[in-house]
Amino acid sequence: MTELKFPEKLIFGAATSAYQIEGAVDNDWVAWERAQRLKVKDVYCGDGIDHLSRWREDLGLLFELGAQAYRYSVEWSRIEPRPGEFDDDALWHYVRIAEALRARGVLPVVTLHHFTHPRWFHEKTPWESPASVDAFARFARRVVSAIGAVPAYVTLNEPNVVLNGGFLAAAIPPGRADLKAMGKACANMIRAHAAAHAVIRELAPTARIGLAHNVLHFAPARPYFPPDRLLVRVAHRMWNDAIPDAIAHGELEMHIPFVYRHRERIPEAKGTLDFLGLNYYTRVHLALKLLAKVPCELRYLDTTRKGLTDIGWEDYPEGLYRHLKDFARYGLPIWITENGIDDRAGNRRSQFLYEHLHAMLRAMAEGVNVEAYLHWSLLDNFEWLEGYGPRFGLYHVDFQTRVRTATPAANYLRRLIQARRLLEPGAVLGPPAVAAASP
Ligand code: FCB
Repeated sequence: MTELKFPEKLIFGAATSAYQIEGAVDNDWVAWERAQRLKVKDVYCGDGIDHLSRWREDLGLLFELGAQAYRYSVEWSRIEPRPGEFDDDALWHYVRIAEALRARGVLPVVTLHHFTHPRWFHEKTPWESPASVDAFARFARRVVSAIGAVPAYVTLNEPNVVLNGGFLAAAIPPGRADLKAMGKACANMIRAHAAAHAVIRELAPTARIGLAHNVLHFAPARPYFPPDRLLVRVAHRMWNDAIPDAIAHGELEMHIPFVYRHRERIPEAKGTLDFLGLNYYTRVHLALKLLAKVPCELRYLDTTRKGLTDIGWEDYPEGLYRHLKDFARYGLPIWITENGIDDRAGNRRSQFLYEHLHAMLRAMAEGVNVEAYLHWSLLDNFEWLEGYGPRFGLYHVDFQTRVRTATPAANYLRRLIQARRLLEPGAVLGPPAVAAASP
């Protein structure tokens, strides 16, 4: 049986990203929204959830939760509005957050890059060009000089999402659909991670350095059909393994049989992770569609009969267990840097937490070294292509009045952190559900 006690050293916390809660900048996503490239039309991030003026109140919620760590990101376009020109006031905001956290004994976990870029970046130093590496290193140097030795830095959030969405599916900035460019961009993102690692080691030698890697659990839509099984192997290699393998071995290999192969040595990346961050949300079933423009169909199936989550994803805690077991092969400590659910009525998140933490404890009981669980997200926020529909927050945000209210899961997580045991949601009495329906 799985031990339901959380080890003393396991760190609990929550995560956000700058643009999703701050908005109001001149970055590539603002341009993307203006060009009506979101799934929802006439929707703009605006000033996010007005976090810039309410950040003290929001940190108060984190403290109320009893969180031991807070993962937040810095907005590159605010800090470096023009290449090589830095705005110290903008940077100072993120320094103050780190200080406010330290003052309360909460560990700041700072993400340097979470999806957004200054607009000049794609024009002057795009990811396909080697100049991107120097640009990112210069930015990292400025940020780390100011913020200093926090316990952990995350260099990049989900490069596989940026690459797939931005260079293959043309679904997010920079909106390309070019496999060759994707390979080059991938190698440069890994180099940029390595360059940032060197900068952090130099300026903040005690900080631990990781990457937040999105993992998807893939399964064949038709298990009896060998091409679907092959597709799963290819997708798993490309999505889940290629980037961490490249960092572990210093060599990137991306391969789609009969279509594409990219090999590149990146020796400077070898050994540049102190921990591997995993962002886990769901499982996807894949079906080969030979005659379609994109020959791979993605399906979210409700195999667990819990109902798809509100964003339409499968609620599949077993996938977290399997990925933890699988990624333990690198011999690195693992941080769950994101895990969460779009639960608009606020009545499923506690059960989701219970089941995912149970899966995590199972993997830990079998020897996997998980050091942190950071829930996505502290607050409802701007969910990229989906706009303000989804609600991933432990705290509900009324998008009109900006009022923040605890969901039942915030109370549940607070009790778990206090008790250091995985209590069943029913055993934890909290105030009744307060989350209102989306506007
Ligand atoms: C992850 C992103 C995060 C948020 C969640 C729901 O892929 O890192 O910003 O959008 O998905």
